[in-house]
Amino acid sequence: MSRVALAFSGGLDTTVCVPLLEEEYGYDEVIGVTVDVGQPESEFEEAAETAEALDLEHHVVDAKDEFADLCAAAVKSNATYQGYPLGTALARPVIAEAIMDVAKERNCDGLAHGCTGKGNDQLRFEAVWRGSDMEVIAPVRELGLTREWEIEYAAERDLPVEAGDGGVLSIDQNLWSRAIEGGDLEHPDYVPTEDIYEWTDEPSGEKALIEVSFEDGVPVSATIDDQDTSIEDDSLVELIESLNEIAGQYGVGRTDVMEDRMLGLKVRENYEHPAATVLLTAHQALEDLVLTKEERSFKRSIEQEWAEKAYEGIVFAPVVDALEAFIDETQDVVTGTATVRVGGGSCRAVARDSEYSVYSEEMASFNTEDIDGIAQEDATGVAKYHGFQERFANSVKGSSEGITDWE
Ligand code: ARG
Repeated sequence: MSRVALAFSGGLDTTVCVPLLEEEYGYDEVIGVTVDVGQPESEFEEAAETAEALDLEHHVVDAKDEFADLCAAAVKSNATYQGYPLGTALARPVIAEAIMDVAKERNCDGLAHGCTGKGNDQLRFEAVWRGSDMEVIAPVRELGLTREWEIEYAAERDLPVEAGDGGVLSIDQNLWSRAIEGGDLEHPDYVPTEDIYEWTDEPSGEKALIEVSFEDGVPVSATIDDQDTSIEDDSLVELIESLNEIAGQYGVGRTDVMEDRMLGLKVRENYEHPAATVLLTAHQALEDLVLTKEERSFKRSIEQEWAEKAYEGIVFAPVVDALEAFIDETQDVVTGTATVRVGGGSCRAVARDSEYSVYSEEMASFNTEDIDGIAQEDATGVAKYHGFQERFANSVKGSSEGITDWE
């Protein structure tokens, strides 16, 4: 008997995949797997109800902790892709792994997803799955399905799909971000209306200070001044959930990007990610205090690479381990606190503190005579040399007087 595990959400795409995997791909049995990376409760209800109506064996796997760990790695890497904190991208390998584990346990012969052939998610799922010896199936892409065809097919087969299937917007939501696309948002000149947002309130004049504590670059707790709420929990999942709620009230964490997908298509995406914005801003602020100039500038290029690989869904790549070896090496000193001010839709760092600070008020101050035996006049030689090569180059080109008395 052949069996295939399907990444199942209970939406239109994955619902039509169930009979198609039997009819078109000849599987005897389909099992549905829904992986919890922090989607809203309603999505699990929809998945469970649809699975029941389809008489589908349905597994729900809680992978929130694994996902939060990856979000922590993203914080250490100050990771964004074209301004987006990578929520969907980071979730896919976690979901793909969890489905593969269930498939192995249930002795499946195949793995299937309902992604289209235009997006990134097909690539992210398959990058993980193709490492197994199971057959990888993408019915929507392989059979060239369109939405209209799926709606008609579902009606013919009397499949349990809600009319309209949730409206024109396509939403992908997890702990780290809520992605919104489709409908009028597809026109880059269309200004989004307030009703597309669910996590963020319309920015108002209210403000608050949020202090985030980090240990080795990982956020461990947060305190919000005006609400006197202290989130002291080892659970990163809870910290992220609370910050989404709190910072969202100040309209923090909205981005509207023209995003270059992996296949080269440009799309317009809107995102909400209040917690990610707070944590990334605070983490960066703390790093600014504790890392040296050289570390900060070299880390930028490492971070860029990490974010690209994360966007591509290949966080398991050897090069990512190597990048993380550098990143982790820098994070021992990223221990302390950073405070951000949230309000009016913005989030900016306003304070930072760490026992590993490489800033010294005494050294930077104008009132100190010597630092470690170095006096102000000692900079004279440096100042004479500074820009020497540039002045020389300009004089060779004759473009300025440059250096005249060098013989
Ligand atoms: N474009 C983003 C990515 O590839 C997110 C896609 C989210 N999907 C959605 N249905 N809105 O990472």
